[in-house]
Amino acid sequence: MIIKTPPMGWNTWNTFGDKIDEKLVRETADFIVESGLRDAGYEYVVIDDCWSELKRDENGRLVADKNKFPSGMKALADYIHSKGLKFGMYSCCGALTCAGFPGSYDHEYIDAATFAEWEVDYLKYDFCYHTGTLEGKFFYRRMGAALANCGRDIVFSACSWGMEETQEWVKTTGAHLWRSTHDIQNSWASIKSITQQQARLIPYNGHGCFNDMDMLVVGMDGKSFIDGFWQTNGCTELDHKTHFSIWCMFGSPLMIGCDIRKMSDGAKAILTNKEAIAINQDGAYNQVYRLTLDRGPEDALVCARMLENGDFAIGVFNLMDGEYRFVFGFDEMGITTHCGKDIEVTEIWTGEREELVSGTINTVVEGHGCKLYRLKLIQK
Ligand code: GLA
Repeated sequence: MIIKTPPMGWNTWNTFGDKIDEKLVRETADFIVESGLRDAGYEYVVIDDCWSELKRDENGRLVADKNKFPSGMKALADYIHSKGLKFGMYSCCGALTCAGFPGSYDHEYIDAATFAEWEVDYLKYDFCYHTGTLEGKFFYRRMGAALANCGRDIVFSACSWGMEETQEWVKTTGAHLWRSTHDIQNSWASIKSITQQQARLIPYNGHGCFNDMDMLVVGMDGKSFIDGFWQTNGCTELDHKTHFSIWCMFGSPLMIGCDIRKMSDGAKAILTNKEAIAINQDGAYNQVYRLTLDRGPEDALVCARMLENGDFAIGVFNLMDGEYRFVFGFDEMGITTHCGKDIEVTEIWTGEREELVSGTINTVVEGHGCKLYRLKLIQK
């Protein structure tokens, strides 16, 4: 199976950790449809860690936690599919998952068969509790081969956090996406650090195997987390808008991590911005690159990407705390002064046309802020 654009959906982990059950998942599936998120493109409903019993059954099969998921996973899959959505689950390449539930080590084929039987469409596969005797790539090849032979199309989401230079071997495993960095937290420091770490990994991103910068924290507001776990001061709405813009521009999967039943109008407006999503899901999936012109400080980041119809996306990201004036032209993007076209640039969050000064963008962006542009070349 080949997937052409980064997956979009929702995952239980960021907000709910081990406090998950079938009611939450069903209600969330309902809300994904009612709130318009499904129509915006979000389709995978993914149950992360902490869904199983602590012991496999007498046949060595994983068993869903009978208290959390009394109807079983097949019934949940049926429900999610009935809503026009897809069903994702989680396991781990080690003997245990990161939270201490049974992992798939040496059970890869039987687990892939179980997931296929439950009509799972997506598997996130973690990197905890694996033996030191094998390198990471061997664990992922095992599950990759098991999934490719389980009789069902299942998206394989490798989650080895970029360890062991994952980018160099992950495409040998059949993975469709791979976590390129450690876990995100609902803080500006975390968003900024993941963005900075992504720079050297961008060339590895591409069709069929996408760099996964981790789940979105948009909509989590100040409320992270459960039981004092991963407490942070949270983010402002501006932080979240910039975070979402970066994930769209860099072509990361868009997996929502908030409680969407309670998301604010502001969070919903960010998550459903059609123009931003169109950049993320662009069919050409050309590589994003950094402009070096007038580059200034490392944390004043201007990125570009040519889109399928010949337009360009341009992301201007101010990762610093104070405001910064960005000045740059389009020469480096291949748009020459003698191209014979008019240039039209629209900022997609405001819908406003950017006034070009001598063929350059000259704009002040507040600290933590961003501008996300779509540039069109118009026949004169
Ligand atoms: C790891 C992963 C997270 C989440 C947890 C679950 O930390 O990177 O995304 O799946 O495990 O335990």
